[in-house]
Amino acid sequence: MKIVRSIPDLKAARRTMQGSLGCVPTMGYLHEGHLSLVRRAKAENDNTAVSIFVNPTQFLPNEDFKTYPRDERRDLTLLEKEAVDLVFLPEVRDMYSEDHRTFVIIEGLSDVLEGAIRPGHFRGVATVVAKLFNLMEPTGAYFGQKDAQQVLVIKKMVVDLNMNLKIIACPTIREEDGLAMSSRNVYLNPDERRKARIIPQALLAARELWLAGERNADILRHRMRQMIEGVAGARIDYVSVADPETLAELGQDTRAALASLAVKFGRTRLIDNVILD
Ligand code: PAJ
Repeated sequence: MKIVRSIPDLKAARRTMQGSLGCVPTMGYLHEGHLSLVRRAKAENDNTAVSIFVNPTQFLPNEDFKTYPRDERRDLTLLEKEAVDLVFLPEVRDMYSEDHRTFVIIEGLSDVLEGAIRPGHFRGVATVVAKLFNLMEPTGAYFGQKDAQQVLVIKKMVVDLNMNLKIIACPTIREEDGLAMSSRNVYLNPDERRKARIIPQALLAARELWLAGERNADILRHRMRQMIEGVAGARIDYVSVADPETLAELGQDTRAALASLAVKFGRTRLIDNVILD
């Protein structure tokens, strides 16, 4: 496993690769969710590369950029075990010069749900992912469905900017009790961690209603809201049942939907979703 930190070293390593390259962009503090993407990339490509970069431009000023969990040693051990070919660990100053002025904005898709609560977040995500694609030149890139809006934003960027790679969305990996794995789960204290189970439970309830034939999105949203509001200390940012392509909130008689939500427990903000189809 080759570990590179500078852009020239990355480019040199990339030049030695032949065939396809599957890349997995991450912010580190890796868990089974990340590793599932790595395994899929490995299974489907001649070469695999993982980037670890806590990207400052996707955090709002009041967010957890400084305290975002980091453990480079542990991450590298995990990736070594997966026999990844290349790990790219850039420094902020190498990714963003002091005079950095170029940003990628995906209009509309970036402004709802996560984007409405975190204005500027997807501008940072799209910009860093575009840069990583230009630097790593992957033939395919793997993203988690857990961040469903992120997948839509990146796919749209790739189409609109004629980027020459495939985007592969992979299923959400969960803890035994259903909570979606996230690097931020370590912020939860034991009480919050127990209460956080309501998130997958609410999504599951929406799914059950859907499977029983309920197509009124208001009823689905109401059911999820009611369940979460029943848990002391849970603060809802949004509960959504939206079109899985446009993210427009749905009314009735829909063919498919993305049920998604963001809930805060203490200082920890969790997101999750299920596709209803
Ligand atoms: P990060 O939160 O580290 O996630 C990296 C990738 O792992 C993303 O594609 C995310 O959707 C996926 N992932 C996280 N938890 C998962 C889970 N439980 N199951 C499956 N996949 C999961 O997302 C980012 O970093 C950043 O925004 C990034 C794309 C790297 C740009 O900075």
